[in-house]
Amino acid sequence: MTTQTNGWKWHSQYPELGTGPVPIEPYISPEYFKREREKIFRKVWLNMGRVEQIPNSGDYFVKDLVVCQTSIIIVRGGDGQIRAFHNMCSHRGNPVVWQAKGRGKTFTCRYHSWTYGLDGRLRHVPDERNFYGIKKECLGLTPVAVDTWEGFIFINVDPHPQETLREYLGEVGRSFEGYPFAEIATDCSTWEIDVNANWKVCKDAFQEVYHIFSLHHKSTGSAFASPSNPYLNVHELALFGPHARMSVPANLDWHPTPVEALAKRYGMLTLQKQGGSSKGMPAGVNPTGAQDWSFSGLIYFPNTCLFVSDGGIIMHTMWPLTENRTRWEARTYFPKAKTLAQQFSQEYGRATFVDGVLVEDGGTFEKTQSMLASGAKKEVILGDEELLIRHHHKVTERYLNA
Ligand code: FES
Repeated sequence: MTTQTNGWKWHSQYPELGTGPVPIEPYISPEYFKREREKIFRKVWLNMGRVEQIPNSGDYFVKDLVVCQTSIIIVRGGDGQIRAFHNMCSHRGNPVVWQAKGRGKTFTCRYHSWTYGLDGRLRHVPDERNFYGIKKECLGLTPVAVDTWEGFIFINVDPHPQETLREYLGEVGRSFEGYPFAEIATDCSTWEIDVNANWKVCKDAFQEVYHIFSLHHKSTGSAFASPSNPYLNVHELALFGPHARMSVPANLDWHPTPVEALAKRYGMLTLQKQGGSSKGMPAGVNPTGAQDWSFSGLIYFPNTCLFVSDGGIIMHTMWPLTENRTRWEARTYFPKAKTLAQQFSQEYGRATFVDGVLVEDGGTFEKTQSMLASGAKKEVILGDEELLIRHHHKVTERYLNA
C-alpha cells in the first residue's frame, strides 16, 4: 500500500486513474451506447438472476436483453442442468416463450407449434413432410453460454466467450465465496423501474456512498454517517480488474426511531445493522475487520452492484435500453421469516428500501440525465471517494478500444 497523498487515500493507491474531470459524452451519446452494446454487453458475463428462481426441472424464466437485442430463456432441464437459449424459434423467428416465467416439459412456439425439449432440441414439427429435407437435429434453440457463481446465474451472449465466468469474476469473486447467499436469498423482492436516464447515471449512484449524508439524510443517512465520519468515508475501495469492492461503515451511535428500533430487534432493516458482525464471513466481506461495519459491495462490471450485510442482500442491475433509458432492477433478499416479528422487520426493511433508495436515489436519475444532456457542461467532477465511478469509465474505455 502506498502512502496517502494530500489526503486522497484512494487516489494514492490507484494513481493510474488520475484525478481529472470525466467527460459527459459517454452518458448522452447514442454512438457511445452502440459501442458499449457491441464491445461490452455482447462480450461479457451478465447476471440474470438466482438458482432459486428455477428450483425444479422444467422451471424457466425469460429475460428480454434489449441491450443485446435478444431475449433469453433460462431453464432447468430434466437432468437438473441449467441451460440458456436465445428465445427464437428456428422456423420463422417467433419468440418461443412469451410469458416471463413458468414450468413445463417442452416449449411450443405458438405460431405453428414447433416444439422444443428443455434441452433445446427440436422435438416436433407439425406436417413435417411439407418441409424440404428438414434436419431436426440441426434446428434446436440456439444455446447461450451459461454458468453459476454462488447461486447467481450468468450468461454470455458471445458464441465464444473469451473467458470463463470464474476467470471473469477472478479474485474479487473468490473473496465473496462462502458468504451465506443460499441461506439468505430465500425471500426475494424485485422492483423493475424504467427510467429516462443512461444506465451509468443509475449505476453511479451505487458506486459511491458520498451522497448518503445528503440525499438520504431524512431516511437512512443517520444509520451510516456519524459525527466522527459525517461524509461517510468508506473503510475500503479496492479494484480487481474490471470489478471493484467497497466496504461501508455504520454509525454505532445511531438512535433509531421507536419503530426502527422494533424492526431492528428482529432483523437487519436494509443493510443498517449498526455494527453487524462479519464473523465467519469470507475475506471480501468487511475486509478491514472494522467494528463499525454495515455492508460490503461487490461492484461487478458492467452493470451489477451486489451489497451484502449481516443478514440481508441488496442487488441493483442496470439494463440499458437506449443511451438515455434504463431498466433498473432492484432486489432485496432476506432469509424466509420464521415469525411474525421477523416478517414485520423485513417488511419495514423493504419499505425503508423503497423510500430511501427507490424514491430518493431514483428521483435524481432523470433530472441528472436531462441536465447532462443540456450541453451546459462537458465534464463532471469526481472526488476521491468516487473512485469506482472513475474506474468504471476507465474500464469501459479499455473495452471499447480493445
Ligand atoms: Fe415458430 Fe413457426 S415461427 S413455429
